[in-house]
Amino acid sequence: MIPLHSYGVLACASFFFTPSSAQGQGKQPWVMRWSNTFYGPDGPWQAVSVGIGSPPQQIALYPAGVFQSHILTTDVCKDITQSPICYANNAGTYLPSNSSTSLTKIIQLPASTDTTGGGLDVGGSLGARALDRVDIAGEIVPNVSLALHSSIWATNPDGSKYAIEVGTLALGGQGSVNQTFTGVNPPINSSLIPGWLSSPSAPSNHQTPSNSFGLHIGSVSPRLPGSLYFGGYDQNRICGNISRQLGDLVTIDLLDVAITVVDGASPWNTSSGFEGLLKSGNASIGSSLPVGINPGAPYLNLPQSSCDAIAAKLPVTYQPSLGLYTWNVQSPQYKTIVSSASALSFIFRENQNNVQNFTIHVPFLLLNLTLTAPLVSTPTPYFPCNAQSRGQYQLGRAFLQAAFLGSNWNANHGGGVWWLAQAPGPNVVTQPSIIAIQDQDTDIKASENSWLLSWKDVWTPLAPNPASTSALPTSTPLESPLADSSHSPGPSTGAIAGIAVGSVAGFAVLLLALILFRQHRRRQRRRRTTYPELPTTEPIPSKHLGSEMQSPQLLSSDYSFNGVNGLAEVSGTSRAQELG
Ligand SMILES: *[C@@H]1O[C@H](CO)[C@@H](O)[C@H](O)[C@H]1NC(C)=O
Ligand SMILES: *[C@@H]1O[C@H](CO)[C@@H](O)[C@H](O)[C@H]1NC(C)=O
Ligand SMILES: *[C@@H]1O[C@H](CO)[C@@H](O)[C@H](O)[C@H]1NC(C)=O
Ligand SMILES: *[C@@H]1O[C@H](CO)[C@@H](O)[C@H](O)[C@H]1NC(C)=O
Ligand SMILES: *[C@@H]1O[C@H](CO)[C@@H](O)[C@H](O)[C@H]1NC(C)=O
Ligand SMILES: *[C@@H]1O[C@H](CO)[C@@H](O)[C@H](O)[C@H]1NC(C)=O
Ligand SMILES: *[C@@H]1O[C@H](CO)[C@@H](O)[C@H](O)[C@H]1NC(C)=O
Ligand SMILES: *[C@@H]1O[C@H](CO)[C@@H](O)[C@H](O)[C@H]1NC(C)=O
Repeated sequence: MIPLHSYGVLACASFFFTPSSAQGQGKQPWVMRWSNTFYGPDGPWQAVSVGIGSPPQQIALYPAGVFQSHILTTDVCKDITQSPICYANNAGTYLPSNSSTSLTKIIQLPASTDTTGGGLDVGGSLGARALDRVDIAGEIVPNVSLALHSSIWATNPDGSKYAIEVGTLALGGQGSVNQTFTGVNPPINSSLIPGWLSSPSAPSNHQTPSNSFGLHIGSVSPRLPGSLYFGGYDQNRICGNISRQLGDLVTIDLLDVAITVVDGASPWNTSSGFEGLLKSGNASIGSSLPVGINPGAPYLNLPQSSCDAIAAKLPVTYQPSLGLYTWNVQSPQYKTIVSSASALSFIFRENQNNVQNFTIHVPFLLLNLTLTAPLVSTPTPYFPCNAQSRGQYQLGRAFLQAAFLGSNWNANHGGGVWWLAQAPGPNVVTQPSIIAIQDQDTDIKASENSWLLSWKDVWTPLAPNPASTSALPTSTPLESPLADSSHSPGPSTGAIAGIAVGSVAGFAVLLLALILFRQHRRRQRRRRTTYPELPTTEPIPSKHLGSEMQSPQLLSSDYSFNGVNGLAEVSGTSRAQELG
């Protein structure tokens, strides 16, 4: 992609990159290119575009997950039992035999089937590990760790199945420049893109300052292009304070979900919004609900009780066959709510402590998503709360349209650090303010942009209803409630009806968290057998895994690779260990 130094707009870069950093370490973040098309059937979503193999096969992938990238092969189209149309062709599929640099047989350890981290109920065959080069437009990363999928689908609550359409581009791995497979001699190294870019393997003029990423997936409607940097981030994609979490990507505690009227009159009869929706009607949810943050998954995966409580305030209809809610487009409230200056607000624990919280607002404009074929026969506006999330509580792309997520994998002496923060709306400064993340940085900085202004003229604050004006607080438009967390206006202040618009900040990611958490549990459950990666929805039958593991390669000695998500501990014959 475009090396930053050749980016014309970097008038601001000279401001942010001090001359001293240009000397000895002229290292700059690497910007990834996004595809021009959008993907469904639960979006529309944006994706990054890469070329896999030699010659490069152009493929769009969701930036998500750790260690291996999950790639759909041309074989997924052979599975016409689900549909005569190969939806995966929209983003592109990969044919390893057409690539002179593909290595498909050298790693026998299977990868999980699920590319969504449990966000969907994914079925199909296990992924096959492979290496190939990946052209990130301007640089070619050799031997990238891949998991190839030739049969993969998702199952709806009613049992119907539909094809998975888009794979994932991994965002790195905790403390890992490479993913190393031992047990063969010599051990096989596969590249992780942000690690490779930050290592001496990368040409010096393209090296990045750290093994890290900064991501805001943006939105299609209203349009805000995606932003993904390795070794840095676009500061303009962060409004307000940033919640930092040391450690690997783990779950973050969700404290509440609220509906907030940010500006103008309330589209609801109440003068304010609503709080307490997370725990509403469900005494079994304790003080918090740990949730993953996962750009590989589409929905807001919450308990059914929470989805129902939110849905009760909206003109939507539950569709049990999908576990989702469709907007009642005929209801006058639909247009009013969806275009109003109101948001679904997620309140999290901030900085891993129990005294602070922060809020990320997802305007309803972003929650007017569209189901398309093969999920439905005609495009249908839907509200993305997933009431059939099978305990896989996590916030996917629907949430991440409004949130910045980043991680520095090497910081904390390889223990990692990750961040979550409010991202702006469509009125962003279009010149990126690219900031480098240094190797041991545990903090990044927000822009001084106003979140409120980033939505100005995009949403339509409702004019005060004369009948209810008296009930409304005096309308003092808040100057960016999110931009300054130290004075986060409490619910008592001003025009923000509803919950405290706290500071935003947050942590990030959790894709992994979830992974770690589940693996941990699994490891506890079965001391000796851990399966590759977490998110396989159905446990991999051990006999299957066992037979896969009978290869002499695997039995020859310890077979392991570094990575949280891929340990293979197999029936006592090979022992897994996590390397560095
Ligand atoms: C594989 O290569 C052949 C010959 O160049 C080409 O015709 C075919 O379209 C390629 N297939 C894919 C899926 O790229
Ligand atoms: C593999 O990568 C690791 C870093 O992750 C490095 O220490 C090791 O030397 C590499 N091995 C080979 C054979 O390149
Ligand atoms: C890719 O990996 C293979 C197998 O480990 C190795 O033989 C080859 O040299 C590597 N290629 C590059 C460009 O690092
Ligand atoms: C990581 O693996 C890649 C691919 O085999 C290799 O080119 C690179 O040298 C390795 N990195 C390190 C630090 O050894
Ligand atoms: C507002 O209150 C009126 C009268 O009670 C009711 O008919 C209407 O459905 C309510 N609207 C909303 C959005 O709750
Ligand atoms: C209540 O919350 C728990 C999680 O704490 C969940 O397992 C259960 O399904 C929820 N009940 C309903 C009706 O959603
Ligand atoms: C909601 O989404 C639909 C389908 O994309 C679109 O036609 C409609 O204009 C959107 N509504 C609002 C209020 O933005
Ligand atoms: C968030 O923090 C504020 C200020 O300390 C507090 O009033 C509010 O109750 C907290 N919200 C939640 C959901 O814990």
